[in-house]
Amino acid sequence: MPIDVIGETIVMFAPMTTWRGLINSDYRRWLPVTHNTPVISLHEGNTPLLRSDHLSSLTGCDIWLKVEGTNPTGSFKDRGMTVAVSNAAENGAEAVICASTGNTSASAAAYAARAGIACVVLVPEKAIALGKLAQVVRYGARIVEVAGTFDDCLRIARDLAAHHRVALVNSVDNQWRLAGQRTVAYEIVDALGDAPDIHSLPVGNGGNITATWSGYQTYAADGPAGRTPRMWGFQAAGAAPLVHGAPVAVPDTAASAIRVGNPATWEGAVSARDESRGLIRAVTDEQIFDAYRAVARHDGVFAEPASAVGIAGILDQRRKGRLAPGQRIVITLSGNGLKDLDASMGDGYTSTRTSASTADVAHALRLTD
Ligand code: F0G
Repeated sequence: MPIDVIGETIVMFAPMTTWRGLINSDYRRWLPVTHNTPVISLHEGNTPLLRSDHLSSLTGCDIWLKVEGTNPTGSFKDRGMTVAVSNAAENGAEAVICASTGNTSASAAAYAARAGIACVVLVPEKAIALGKLAQVVRYGARIVEVAGTFDDCLRIARDLAAHHRVALVNSVDNQWRLAGQRTVAYEIVDALGDAPDIHSLPVGNGGNITATWSGYQTYAADGPAGRTPRMWGFQAAGAAPLVHGAPVAVPDTAASAIRVGNPATWEGAVSARDESRGLIRAVTDEQIFDAYRAVARHDGVFAEPASAVGIAGILDQRRKGRLAPGQRIVITLSGNGLKDLDASMGDGYTSTRTSASTADVAHALRLTD
């Protein structure tokens, strides 16, 4: 360790360590990669785990936010995509394909670009947030806008991957995606010293609750965790097939990222709920957008609407008297607010217009000497 001497005081400082992504981290041993696997990485992972003083004092619990929007393409999807695209590259894939409500497509397009592999994304027409589409455009993927739902897109992507030389990088049946997404649980346990009592997160296609739960199980069985949390998953009320126990033909919510009517990882999500003695419930769009505004306003985190579902769910459970105080809770904030500017601007905003004079600005702000 380098040593510096300032006056009589000896100062020791650790060299700044550089994070080089999940596959090049200590978590590599938990990932399905070999020394033959090319590492396709944008240095994803290692995201902030922030304590929310606001939510903690509101609930009497100890609440932490896992801010996944700081991943390279702005969502948790990068954790699985680095593994999936590295694997596709190892297998000589010339093209990858995915269906998406937006974030998976942005992530797939970025990692494919880095790997020099072609990428095709199938998205529901006019139904994904503009920032996500803008990412895909810039990364250079082939965009197919389907006149249908996300569920239609996924059905078609699976059909095409089964019959053509394109590798599917959706998390459904994709051990690489799921293995990468498990790392979020490892990071949380490493940061907090053990698993929390409850892990709350949004549920769309079901992959993330499945992977996060499996990460906690892996880390408890073979790693440093002494216990596992209860998994609390939340869906939007208009797109809550797992809550109703039946697919929803036309899912409807302004939280477009989780507008999914027939989750492909249905069994995994239900197992995560049941094995962890957790729950999967619905919250209204109004509750989602209240949480979306509050987490920005009080915690300084700009998360996209679907990301706020885990917060809305915790507050809903508390309101119903089903949240005992004193528990440690981690909430996944799955994506970055910058992806969906319409959601933010939809509220309108107030500003003050002035001339370009300091005196005018001071006057407008009622600043006196
Ligand atoms: N939060 C965000 C921001 C998402 O984009 C998604 C899923 C979820 C939560 C739910 O995760 O599907 O694993 O249950 N987005 C997918 C996509 C469907 O295509 O980007 P899940």
